[in-house]
Amino acid sequence: MNGEVLKVVEFKIRRYDPDEKKHYMSTYKVPIRKGTTVLDALNYIKENLDGTLTFRHSCRMGICGSCAVNINGKPMLACYTQVLDLNADSLTVEPLSNMPLIKDLVVDIQPFFQNFRKIKTTLIKPAEAFRRENEFPQSPEELKKFWDLTLCTKCAVCYSACPAAIDEKFLGPSALTANYRFIADSRDEGLEERLKPMTDNVWLCTSCNSCTLFCPKLVNCSDSVIEDRSLIVEMGAIPRTVKDVLESVMKYHNPMGTHQNKRMEWAKDLNVKTFPNVTKADVLYFVCCSTAYDIRNREIAKTMALVFGKLGVDYATLGEEEWCCGDHILRMGEKGLFEMLAEHNIEMFRKFNADKIVTLSPHCYNTFKNDKPYKDLGLNVQHYTEFLAEALENGKIKLSKPLNRRVAYHDPCFLGKRNRIYDAPRQILQSINGLELVEMKRTRESSFCCGGGAGRVWTEEAEQEKRPCVNRVKEALELGVDAIAVACPFCVTTLEDAMKVLDVENKIAVKDILELLKETL
Ligand code: FES
Repeated sequence: MNGEVLKVVEFKIRRYDPDEKKHYMSTYKVPIRKGTTVLDALNYIKENLDGTLTFRHSCRMGICGSCAVNINGKPMLACYTQVLDLNADSLTVEPLSNMPLIKDLVVDIQPFFQNFRKIKTTLIKPAEAFRRENEFPQSPEELKKFWDLTLCTKCAVCYSACPAAIDEKFLGPSALTANYRFIADSRDEGLEERLKPMTDNVWLCTSCNSCTLFCPKLVNCSDSVIEDRSLIVEMGAIPRTVKDVLESVMKYHNPMGTHQNKRMEWAKDLNVKTFPNVTKADVLYFVCCSTAYDIRNREIAKTMALVFGKLGVDYATLGEEEWCCGDHILRMGEKGLFEMLAEHNIEMFRKFNADKIVTLSPHCYNTFKNDKPYKDLGLNVQHYTEFLAEALENGKIKLSKPLNRRVAYHDPCFLGKRNRIYDAPRQILQSINGLELVEMKRTRESSFCCGGGAGRVWTEEAEQEKRPCVNRVKEALELGVDAIAVACPFCVTTLEDAMKVLDVENKIAVKDILELLKETL
């Protein structure tokens, strides 16, 4: 490449020697000019510094999908990614995940393509229909429904980013999206055939959104999987575990299957103001089914009430009128049930007339912010970490006791990847005296899901070693931390399950940030 060298960037490349079956790192200094892509840099290394470096590429223009690698933990197309845009002096380049290694940065892409063989990637139509005149023209509206879904280049970026793909049974975001692309096509007549390969594994998707976030062609795989599920739910072809959750919500308005009159038991000894006794307060505290009913997680609900009390915040809850927010239910594909829950909660929000809603769970936060009909209300909603980070910044909370712990923070997907709240939880942890905050290898945007989203927290059926939570706890153990801090009750449940699976309860703990905070107050 021509042009002025603007900086020299260090490339740390994770390599694999298939003869020795050995992983090793090689480091190179590469001069970067305006427009230098990661692929240009790899070619520079091969031509000038080390001819043995092996990587894959072809079109160099984002079409063939063959050059995908992990760059600083995020899967990307090397030819599509300009080094200067990454704004870093050092880059770690690694092969894609979830596929066997061949050599250096080259992976065996077969497991990814085998999933496409399990679905039919052509229109299904009776032969005579193809011969009928005017059979194929479609209206722009019809085309619009699936046009974006056809942009996939099969680069396997989504498959590499997907936590569910650690289980090879899972079809993966790209194949499930391709399947939905034909379902959405009004010319296709193969609905039943298309639903069949999905019914037993589409439930492994956690809706973590990594596939959509990293797709170089901006294909919304995550929503396509929800559409796939929606059809399966409509046809009633759902596993027992999923059916149980949906029936519980239908009957009791919470996925736990516990009567609503037990919803406030967590607050038994506390003086918590509750609707309808109170119809106005500065803050509406939306507790979440998991923290209201799960005995372990009730501690988190109580601690937030304690903190509100210490801060002198005028708050109240909806009490028995708080129904499941519906985030998991929507992502399980039960749109009708979600709407029923949303309509009830919206009616309560209107009656309560709250200035601000504070949620414990990132799932409630996410759905209130981003899903219609909640979204249309423009609610003033905060996740508790945002609320507390603000209070700390304004000097309203005083943390008196030090806490000598080495802690890794796990970014919950519905807080981080879906809502870009990465800093508030870290600000709280960093303000605790004596606490050493350690970053996990996969962190912030490239954080690895705990496996609990989209109802999987209740429907988990994967073999123990293939559960994302087990993978995540192993990663934390490598850091030598004594606790994993989280900001989501579902992460608490899944990661604690993983600790039991790995039998490491005496080595590491899972703590919600609120629980750590409580120890310092
Ligand atoms: Fe073809 Fe990058 S080389 S997409």
